[in-house]
Amino acid sequence: MKVGIIGSGTMGSGIAQVAATANCQVFVYDTNIASLEKSRQSLEKILARLIEKERINATEKNRIQTNISYVENLKELGPCDLVIEAIVERLDIKQQVFSELENYVSEETIIASNTSSLSIASIAAALKKPERCIGIHFFNPAPLMKLVEVIPAIQTSSEVESEVVSIISSWKKTVAVAKDTPGFIVNRVARPFYGEALKIYEEGLADFATIDWSLKTLGGFRMGPFELMDFIGNDVNYTVTETVFTAFYFDQRYRPSFTQKRFSEAGYLGRKSGKGYYDYSEGAVKSEPKEDPVLAKLIFDRVLVMLINEAADALFLNIASATDIDNAMTKGVNYPKGLLAWADEVGIDWCVMQLDALYEEYHEDRYRCSPLLRQMKRKNKTFF
Ligand SMILES: NC(=O)c1ccc[n+]([C@@H]2O[C@H](COP(=O)([O-])OP(=O)(O)OC[C@H]3O[C@@H](n4cnc5c(N)ncnc54)[C@H](O)[C@@H]3O)[C@@H](O)[C@H]2O)c1
Repeated sequence: MKVGIIGSGTMGSGIAQVAATANCQVFVYDTNIASLEKSRQSLEKILARLIEKERINATEKNRIQTNISYVENLKELGPCDLVIEAIVERLDIKQQVFSELENYVSEETIIASNTSSLSIASIAAALKKPERCIGIHFFNPAPLMKLVEVIPAIQTSSEVESEVVSIISSWKKTVAVAKDTPGFIVNRVARPFYGEALKIYEEGLADFATIDWSLKTLGGFRMGPFELMDFIGNDVNYTVTETVFTAFYFDQRYRPSFTQKRFSEAGYLGRKSGKGYYDYSEGAVKSEPKEDPVLAKLIFDRVLVMLINEAADALFLNIASATDIDNAMTKGVNYPKGLLAWADEVGIDWCVMQLDALYEEYHEDRYRCSPLLRQMKRKNKTFF
């Protein structure tokens, strides 16, 4: 099949590689010629590294590269069956590009956006045929991350949804279908991992290293929240939180943190700036955690139950199926277990008790227990 990619930056280049590896004929378009050239060069390097690691051979490298054409005119995406847009995160520009694209492609072409934060409904609204529009949300780096969220808008036809699920599955990705709501699955359900960790720090309960150590040791998370925020970039992570918070009409559960805002303002962005919650400069002394098992359990329980509550509420509001919510977190952000399976393991009763204790302590809306957990407790039910 023929796949068009609009935008040859980080995401567009990664998605092009995935589609070309799956033997699609790929056309990558960008308004910036230098970006197209950079994309071509970075693919060359990535594939050369894959040969070194013996993941692919020279024939495969050649096949992937010949599957991709870099084009300088949007018109050249005309023959595509599916077009995925990965340009700047601005609604007006995405709408403008989509309505121009519709002049060149056939009636049947599926037009998709890789947006992280805009509603698919608002992008689809720019099309004459909005039922062909859908969200296909890859994670960075697209070739490595198994998860792809597929987001039908209220305008999207069910045929387009099932066709996209089958195409993306054939690209060897795990698909999670999500409702067109802020943050889809991952960027919504993951918020407490950062937010509650930041709140624990702000209350003076523990420092960054101790919070990270607690979640890694007791939870089996590959990175602690502060290490992960430093990895993602404090500016990027803060913007996602603020966008989700605003989009949810300022639901206190998603309230951003001043600590993270100040770190961003100060330019302490994380690894990319050499300093974030940790110091990445040469010779910097590594912060050591306070290895107190009682404190660690308190930190871990609090973050875990907030994550479970978020996952349960996403299910309660039909954002996605239980399986898709769990797959999203294990395959999109490498959580050691799905949060709903984790809830079954620690017990629904325990979750409700923990959340009610937090609510009792703070009287803050962010600690309200999902009605689904309460119903399940009453009926003695489990998620799986
Ligand atoms: N970076 C991530 O981690 C990530 C993850 C998931 C989704 N996304 C989403 O993917 C999209 C792209 O993000 P990115 O990080 O790859 O951005 P990027 O800045 O790396 O790349 C964007 C590319 O789009 C090009 N572009 C801008 N306007 C254009 C236009 N009108 N027509 C054609 N090309 C145009 C730019 O020249 C640039 O090469 C955004 O919607 C973002 O929200 C990003």
